[in-house]
Amino acid sequence: MAITMGQGHESGLTPRESRLVAMEIDGVSGWVFSAVAFLVAFGVRYALNLDLPIGFPYLTFFPAVIITTFVAGLWPGIANAVAGGLAAWYFFIAPYGSFALNGNSALALGFYIFIVGTDIAILHVMSRALHRLAEERQRSAELARSREFMFSELQHRVSNNLQVVASMMQMQKRQINDPDAMKIVDEAIRRLQLVSKIQRALHNPHGQRIPLREFLNGMVPDVIEAAGGPPGITYDVTADASAQNVILTSEQSVPVGLIAAELVANSVEHGFNKRDRGHIDIHVGRAPDGRIALGISDDGHGIADDFELAKSRSLGMQIARAFALQLGGELSLQRDNGTRAMLIFPEGAGDDALFSDTNTLAGLN
Ligand SMILES: Nc1ncnc2c1ncn2[C@@H]1O[C@H](COP(=O)(O)OP(=O)(O)O)[C@@H](O)[C@H]1O
Ligand SMILES: [Mg+2]
Repeated sequence: MAITMGQGHESGLTPRESRLVAMEIDGVSGWVFSAVAFLVAFGVRYALNLDLPIGFPYLTFFPAVIITTFVAGLWPGIANAVAGGLAAWYFFIAPYGSFALNGNSALALGFYIFIVGTDIAILHVMSRALHRLAEERQRSAELARSREFMFSELQHRVSNNLQVVASMMQMQKRQINDPDAMKIVDEAIRRLQLVSKIQRALHNPHGQRIPLREFLNGMVPDVIEAAGGPPGITYDVTADASAQNVILTSEQSVPVGLIAAELVANSVEHGFNKRDRGHIDIHVGRAPDGRIALGISDDGHGIADDFELAKSRSLGMQIARAFALQLGGELSLQRDNGTRAMLIFPEGAGDDALFSDTNTLAGLN
């Protein structure tokens, strides 16, 4: 689902189309417009009478009919055409001052009727199509809005359910005596709560998806706190101009969120181990091939020189690697005045996999 669908104009029309519709008037004003247009056309035609060669009885009535039909609609347009035709016939076709007809003037009248009839018909059909289009667009904009609302509502419920599961685990933990087992359950609870938080953080209060940069900005302080970071730890989240508005799909947000959380937690737990200050730099950029490059670096102790991500058997890195794989991306860690982690993954198209479940953990063993 393209979350941007709701950005349509209120009327469901583009600005240019709305301007066209805004020029339309109806009711009594439409009839007044028609009458004024007729009088102007008549007056101008009358004033031109002396200058015109024979043969232009209808000249000024054509534009009056077209403008009236366009602005005031079908019936005022028809009335204008009839009045114009009759006036031209009576005043500007010889013999003047009568409705008498000869062959030529009958032909001219026939042309007049044909031309204004076609004009009115075309304008009418076009204006009806425009209105139908407006209605249709409005309907689909409403549909998109309600779908978006339902989706963010669903995210909240999922989030609440995860919270319930976490609370139940918290209660069951009381039956555990073994400190190692206790630590493992604590970790599991922490990850569940994080997923719950991620689900909730995907949308802003207006139900719109938020850009990755903003999403990380909201999440990172929580992770630092949960990892037991001392207050001396600072962070900042920046993005390249080309990546300012990167928005994750719903498929991507949980894996990206969890990877980022693992990396930030590691910076706090290992990078700044036994330190009371440190800085974490989070940057959203783009790889040369256009994929999204999420860099997370710290100025801590740095990973061991012989550290190999692919061989790491510890859970945090295993989870991160599995999620990177699911994203179709790559995760790398290197020593660089501390540790620099880089997650590169393709930008997700659309968001049509809304309700598909993520079998991420099935890939873990
Ligand atoms: N930012 C970092 N700074 C220093 N060492 C790190 C960093 N990230 C990871 N490591 C090292 O990599 C190991 C594996 O990390 P991880 O898989 O998250 O396991 P855990 O955090 O449970 O120890 C850590 O034990 C640590 O030695
Ligand atoms: Mg870890």
